[in-house]
Parts: sequence; structure tokens; C-alpha cells
Amino acid sequence: MSMQIPFNMMMSSSFWSILQTSYFSTSSVANKIVPKNLKGRKTSASDWLTRQLNDPYVKLAKFRQFRARSAFKLLEINEKHNILKPGQVVLECGAAPGAWTQVAVSGVNSLPQDINKPQGTVVAVDILAVHSLPGAVMLGGKDFTQQGTQQHILKVLQGKKIDVILSDMAPNATGTKDLDHEVIIELAYSALRFAIQHSALQATFLCKIWEGHRDRTFISDVEKFYKTVKVVKPPASRSDSSEKFILGKMFCGVGVK
Ligand SMILES: C[S@@+](CC[C@H](N)C(=O)[O-])C[C@H]1O[C@@H](n2cnc3c(N)ncnc32)[C@H](O)[C@@H]1O
Repeated sequence: MSMQIPFNMMMSSSFWSILQTSYFSTSSVANKIVPKNLKGRKTSASDWLTRQLNDPYVKLAKFRQFRARSAFKLLEINEKHNILKPGQVVLECGAAPGAWTQVAVSGVNSLPQDINKPQGTVVAVDILAVHSLPGAVMLGGKDFTQQGTQQHILKVLQGKKIDVILSDMAPNATGTKDLDHEVIIELAYSALRFAIQHSALQATFLCKIWEGHRDRTFISDVEKFYKTVKVVKPPASRSDSSEKFILGKMFCGVGVK
């Protein structure tokens, strides 16, 4: 089997480590796959299908049994910024279908996969239903912004402080850039507020946003509580997507900075 690999993806060491355990050949270039039976489909739907069929991350995700290609975004961010460690408590907001959860479970050893390392905890929440995953508490059908959901999360955590808050929450995009930006920023603030209240000192906050006019304010609000804040865009994040991830490390507590 052969596939075309984008240059930026080839340069990532995580990509090469993934390949070491796979059977993909990178030595030849495959022709673009064009889906058949597109009659009656909207252009946007056929473009999406064509992109999926030709996306090497989609193929790798299938091969590595990840629930979605998005797993590689967290894998790449983690490889570069070293955020997940055995024994940590992770809260993941916007978890369906569970690809990031798979990465988190393995990163914090919550199964536990290695009995010689500390066992972590992963709590994953989504407004949609989500299939169970060994090593994680999956709270499907729960709107993270609701107080009831947040109470539920705290009950599951049983007083444990959170070491890593991940938010990949995103609304269904309407296509109206400003509106979509407003909605995702509100989701990001709800994750940040929860993080500030329930994180352990030195915790990490990783949150997706879509670019727009409130970026700068959101980032400077994150900077009030974390020692270092970076904007990251992993190679697996499509270059034509306005998504980017805000990474706050070393939570300082409230009123310290
Ligand atoms: C990009 S997807 C997450 C993909 C996930 N990280 C993975 O790798 O499988 C964004 C998710 O955010 C969820 N979401 C949007 N608004 C939410 C809310 N208010 N509460 C919880 N989840 C929400 C959506 O249902 C969707 O599943």
C-alpha cells in the first residue's frame, strides 16, 4: 500500500515513530483517489469525501485504531510539549468520538497499561453520546457549560485536583466565521473558568479556538493564570483550518500573577 505524505507531516518525529510500527510505504506516490457515486451530492460533501479519502492522517488513524484523525493533533502537541505523564488527572472537554481520550488514557497510564508506573485518571465529557473506553470515565450527552455537568465531573473526581485540562470543544460550524468564533470562544472560556477553579498548581491547559477578533483577549486571560502560554498548530491540524490551540503551562493559582 502506498500513500502521499505531506512534507510537514514527514518532518514530525512522531510521524516517523508511528511509521515504525506500520506497514505503509512512503517510497512511492499514490494517485489522488476520487470518490465514485457522487451524483446528487453537494460540492462541499464531495470535497469533504475526496479530502478524507486522500488524507494520510485518516488512513493512519484507521490503521492505528484511533477513533478519529484528531488523535494525531494531541499526539504531536504532546510529543513537542510533553504534557501527559503517568499518574496525572486529565479532564477532557469535547471528547466525542474519543480519539484524544485514547491518547490521554495511554499518556497518563489510566488503564493502567504499565503496573510499574503511577495510574492516572481520565474524565471525558461531550454533549453528544460517546462510546465507552477502558481507562476513561466517559460522560456522554452532557453539556460542559451546564452547572449540573460540572457538578457531575467534580463528583467523579472525588476531590482530586486536575493536572491537565484539554478542550477540543467546538460547535457545529455555521460557516459564518464571526459567529462560529464567538461560540467557540465562549466554550473556551467555560473550560478556562473550570480550569482556574479546579486545577492543581503547575497544571496544564490546552484549548482549541478558531481564529477571530477575541483571540488576543482570550490569550491574555490565559496568561493571567499560567506561567507560559503558547499558540500551537500541530502538523495534523489542516493548514486551511482556522483552528489553533492555546497551551498554558504551569498554572500559578488565582491572584498570583
Ligand atoms: C472536534 S470534536 C472533538 C474531537 C475529539 N477531541 C476527538 O479527538 O475525538 C468537538 C466536540 O465538541 C463537542 N462539544 C461542543 N459543544 C460542547 C459542549 N457545550 N459540551 C460538551 N461538548 C461539546 C462536540 O459535540 C464535538 O464532539
